[in-house]
Amino acid sequence: MSSPNRQKKIMCIGAGYVGGPTMAVIAAQCPDYRVTVVDINESRVRAWNSESLPIYEPGLHETVKKARGRNLFFTTELDSNIRDADIIFVSVNTPTKTFGEGAGKAADLQYWEQTARKIVEASESDKIVVEKSTLPVRTARAMERILNANEKGIHFEVVSNPEFLAEGTAIADLLNPDRVLIGSHDTDSGRRACGEIVDIFAHWVSEEKIITSNIWSAELSKLTANAFLAQRISSINSISALCEKTEADISQVACAMGMDKRIGNKFLKASVGFGGSCFKKDILNLVYICEHYGLVEVARYWRSVVDINEYQEHRFFQTMVRVMFNTVAGKRIALFGFAFKADTGDTRESPAIYIARRLLEENAVVVVTDPRALDNARKDLAPYNGAVEYVSDPCTAAKGAHAIAVLTEWEEYARLDYAKIYQTMVHPSFIFDGRNILDHRRLHALGFNVFPTGKPSLKHF
Ligand code: UDX
Ligand code: ADP
Repeated sequence: MSSPNRQKKIMCIGAGYVGGPTMAVIAAQCPDYRVTVVDINESRVRAWNSESLPIYEPGLHETVKKARGRNLFFTTELDSNIRDADIIFVSVNTPTKTFGEGAGKAADLQYWEQTARKIVEASESDKIVVEKSTLPVRTARAMERILNANEKGIHFEVVSNPEFLAEGTAIADLLNPDRVLIGSHDTDSGRRACGEIVDIFAHWVSEEKIITSNIWSAELSKLTANAFLAQRISSINSISALCEKTEADISQVACAMGMDKRIGNKFLKASVGFGGSCFKKDILNLVYICEHYGLVEVARYWRSVVDINEYQEHRFFQTMVRVMFNTVAGKRIALFGFAFKADTGDTRESPAIYIARRLLEENAVVVVTDPRALDNARKDLAPYNGAVEYVSDPCTAAKGAHAIAVLTEWEEYARLDYAKIYQTMVHPSFIFDGRNILDHRRLHALGFNVFPTGKPSLKHF
């Protein structure tokens, strides 16, 4: 590790789910660096500087507290921070394009490009620019063109350092990553820039876990890692549909398969579907790139991963309506969980959004409960204002309900007193377990009609 004789200045543009936690960990682990996180969203920056952070992640608050005001700063001031920075991480959002060429598939790079132009405008010296946001392969080329088209004689070296953290375990993932990937050009300045980024992570990550590659491989590795993870979920979810037809049990099938070391046992939990800001967006992006290069079959193959996910969400909703005597109109239905996974308040692409909307279109009375995601749920379901109730206590949510649908695997839902809950519900009562976290036999014995995912249903009729 180099020991700089002055405090190195890192800046990150974008204080979201990736930029915020990543910079907090870098600052906490590297007191010899000054880390400034800049965002255009004033209220978000205010929240980062307060006791109530804009995102929930276990361990995040403690990490931020350790470094904030010491060598970690959150601000909206872009220009002077760009000017002073040695290394600029870019972690702005790259959502799926909703308009024009590639709409619904390609990444919308307008925020990225705005950022690149801002960097050029405000810079007065050479800088390393690090792609942290997930980007289509070969984005670095476009960025280099914009950055290096300056007339100030400044050289910008673009490096790709994709972030593999998962929400809910962001701090643990950052502190103990499976690998840190740094992609750079095979030139003197590229190798030097790569070394600077290695130096940061070498403060706490062991050398053999820090891997370097060419810049295009790094960009593509991130897209591919997410595509493979999502593919596993769609694979197991497709088999869950077959299990429900054949009385096989998806947990038993997954266990038997997962014990084969070549397959492995991770990411084989059947569910109502995958959500989150990355999987769908990145796969669609991969599909778009493949189509761009004329790889139609490859594009079709990856597209099917998203198709199966949509099928799984739809199947869950259809089962609910079908078994509740083909109508949910006027029926109170409690959604247990709205976040796309446990331990986060994030609801981006959460299957709960789809399920809630479809139920509301069927005139059901939807009650949403979630320990962390109610604020986001309110925003997601804003068009249905008045038709949805938001309740923090799940037992209250279930009171008077015909059905409970478990949509997020919050541990606390497995520990509730379902005997009591059953007494307060309308009978016949239904439970749809989209995460297979409940004790189905016990619920059945209590009187519930139970519909797990990928397992035989347990009914009283
Ligand atoms: C993912 C990748 O894991 C991470 O490496 C990348 O940096 C960002 O995208 P994230 O979206 O935060 O992370 O969460 P992840 O744990 O991957 O879960 C994604 C979705 O898949 C969730 O909705 C989760 O509930 C679902 N899932 C996961 C399943 O349905 N079954 C499983 O077995 C695993
Ligand atoms: P991710 O999950 O990739 O971190 P988020 O949407 O949570 O994505 O965060 C991206 C952040 O980037 C947002 O807080 C947004 O306000 C910020 N952002 C977008 N464009 C710019 C910009 N031009 N300058 C500074 N911040 C930006």
